[in-house]
Amino acid sequence: MSRRAVLPDARRRAVTAVLGRQWGRPPARAVGAAYAPANVALVKYWGKRDEVLNLPNTDSLSLSLGPLGTWTSIRPSDRDRFRMNGRCLAANDPACTRLRAYLDLFRGPECPAFEVESRNTVPTAAGVASSASAYASIAIALDMLFGWRLAPGELSVLARLGSGSAARSIALGFVRWRRGRRSDGLDSRAEPLSATWPGLRVGLWMVRRGAKAVGSREAMRRCGRTSPLYAAWPATVAADLREVLAALRARDLERLGTAAEGNALAMHATMIAARPPVIYWTGATLRALAEVAALRREGVAVWATMDAGPNLKLLFEVREERALRERIPALRIVDPWDVRDAGAGGAEMPGVE
Ligand code: DP6
Repeated sequence: MSRRAVLPDARRRAVTAVLGRQWGRPPARAVGAAYAPANVALVKYWGKRDEVLNLPNTDSLSLSLGPLGTWTSIRPSDRDRFRMNGRCLAANDPACTRLRAYLDLFRGPECPAFEVESRNTVPTAAGVASSASAYASIAIALDMLFGWRLAPGELSVLARLGSGSAARSIALGFVRWRRGRRSDGLDSRAEPLSATWPGLRVGLWMVRRGAKAVGSREAMRRCGRTSPLYAAWPATVAADLREVLAALRARDLERLGTAAEGNALAMHATMIAARPPVIYWTGATLRALAEVAALRREGVAVWATMDAGPNLKLLFEVREERALRERIPALRIVDPWDVRDAGAGGAEMPGVE
């Protein structure tokens, strides 16, 4: 894996390469507004070949979370003003620092600062990362504000510069992010797959709330540097990706679920073996995983995936909804293609009328 040193302004070079002669042009309208869904990776992004540009070591593949995501509106302003879920972000809030640095990539003489208003439709306690939907919605809203008319793959590059998994939140449904080979990352972009699966559902199963001790960015870095199991990760991803793509072609849930669950557990294995270890699981996580296995033994076709945290996301088809609601009353069920509940209208989203 190449570990080329990248200069701090590598992100700006990437932006100017994507925008070409459009970079620095004044806004085309008064406001840009967009929605982007959160996503759950069926084959995970875990480890970077470049930490400045968020270039991954491997491909990954996700499913969007339909109505769970972020609405963002952006206007030119005389000074930065950020509101998130109706509250002003304090200047020393880490989310504010990260957003300001991201917006630095797009400021120009005609547009020195931005007023950004973001609203998550993901309940804060749902155990779903919001940075993916946040940075994807910001990239799409900027595209609308400046009138760039970028293709999904180009929006994906811009979103990735904010957060890696945001690269996959630029579209609904199944999305594959190709790792790319270039050191500038211009070929590291996500694009929606043509596969659909209208009956597929995702269930969010919160077993524990509250902040985690180690953030996913740090956990990912620690695994790449210290976990003896990380060396096996790229080959695991390649095999799981083949399985998931074949499962999508055949609409074979058992094949999909087996690969996705195995991939998530393999990712956690790299974390557990890191030094110092990153153990997100609690007793409740293990009991929930055992319950999923028990449900399968009883004939309910359900599999679990997990991200950098203790909570589960279940994969199943609509016909299992009743059985699952009965057994897991707290399960929040999401239709990946349904964005009707996503909230305010008037914003653009590629692939959504
Ligand atoms: C476990 O996209 O949050 O959810 O690129 O550092 O912003 P950064 O990381 P982030 O990592 C997501 C990791 C994951 C797996 C996945 O979504 O593929």
